[in-house]
Amino acid sequence: MKDQQALNSELTDVQVHGPTSIGWCSNTPINETMDENGTTSTQPNGFAAMDPYAPAHRSIESSDVETLRHFLRENNGIAGLEVCQPHELDRIARIFYRDGFVVVDKLLDAEQLDTWRTGCAEVLRDILAHQGHEGRKYITETNRLPHRYSYGTASASRQQLHRPEWASMVDLPTTTPILAKLFGSEDYYVWGSGGDLCIPGAVEYQALHSDVQENFQVSRDRLLQAIKTGLDTNGILNSEELDPRVRQAVVQRTPPMITINFLMSDLTWENGPIRQIPGTHAVAGKIPSQSEEPQWMRTSTLVGANAGAGVFRDNRGWHGATPNLSLQVRALPDVEYSAPWTSRRGVPRAMPHEIWQSLSSHGQAITRWTKSERGVWPAGAGFMHPIASVRRNAKAEQAR
Ligand SMILES: [Fe+2]
Repeated sequence: MKDQQALNSELTDVQVHGPTSIGWCSNTPINETMDENGTTSTQPNGFAAMDPYAPAHRSIESSDVETLRHFLRENNGIAGLEVCQPHELDRIARIFYRDGFVVVDKLLDAEQLDTWRTGCAEVLRDILAHQGHEGRKYITETNRLPHRYSYGTASASRQQLHRPEWASMVDLPTTTPILAKLFGSEDYYVWGSGGDLCIPGAVEYQALHSDVQENFQVSRDRLLQAIKTGLDTNGILNSEELDPRVRQAVVQRTPPMITINFLMSDLTWENGPIRQIPGTHAVAGKIPSQSEEPQWMRTSTLVGANAGAGVFRDNRGWHGATPNLSLQVRALPDVEYSAPWTSRRGVPRAMPHEIWQSLSSHGQAITRWTKSERGVWPAGAGFMHPIASVRRNAKAEQAR
């Protein structure tokens, strides 16, 4: 009870930019995660694969954290990271198709940034509100490493589209022209909206991964999209068999999904900047495990991108989260968009009808697959919990 009161008072002033007192729970073992039912585990795969090089102690004063801090200060960040302005559409597209991601500054104005920061802090409070067991301050999210959470998966609806802060960001004057350029038309649609965050003391690296599997199939619709994005059409449509180089070019510039992660704070060498490996969005090779990953990939992070900016990510590209050794939360709420040629089957109906009605006409058009029927509250929306089985039960209860 005393611990819960201490946690509650710590959470009252939680914010996702600037200094905070949350995080750095030294009672939470390194590389520990939770299974579906909230039982601790240290042998998982996927997002929660252990970091063999993590510091031995989750303490800001420990010497091995200091060693990691020194390494990151010296090495963290992509040298010469290109940061575009929203109007530089050709440059944005060139970098995006080449690297599989591009950083664009000033996507959010001061008011939008402030609104989203407030929403992110409120939802984070809900995620952390449950006292951890045996002295741990927090409950680790199922299948994630300690102090790392997702605004998406920690929600029983898998989304945040029931919250105006997230829903109002699907169609912005800065982002819509860029998405239309990258997708080749305005016929893309919203699959969902959530985002990634880590709190101070997330000392482990998250394993590199890809969010979307590439099957290297080129349907006619996909080919047409590639042509709309400006791919040279010389002879493509008339030939029976696609030249392998053309096929590769089509695959490379037609991501099934693009996610924009928006920055609530500047990304620095110490606050867990996302790492992106350039040119990995259309390769068939195996993604390196933590022990195979070379140092240049560990430090291939977006240090230097500013609050209010965003990273447009081809979801196939290899990426991962990195240690947050600071005293700030690093929050990257997102909007996830699917390509016009992909199947609408399985899109979660996570946006309440009333919220959908408040959007612009383009906003309504691109969210028509994810909105619920009038008077139907999306099952699970508004219920946050780190443990998967608790979320499932809450969603089933709401759906009844
Ligand atoms: Fe991811």
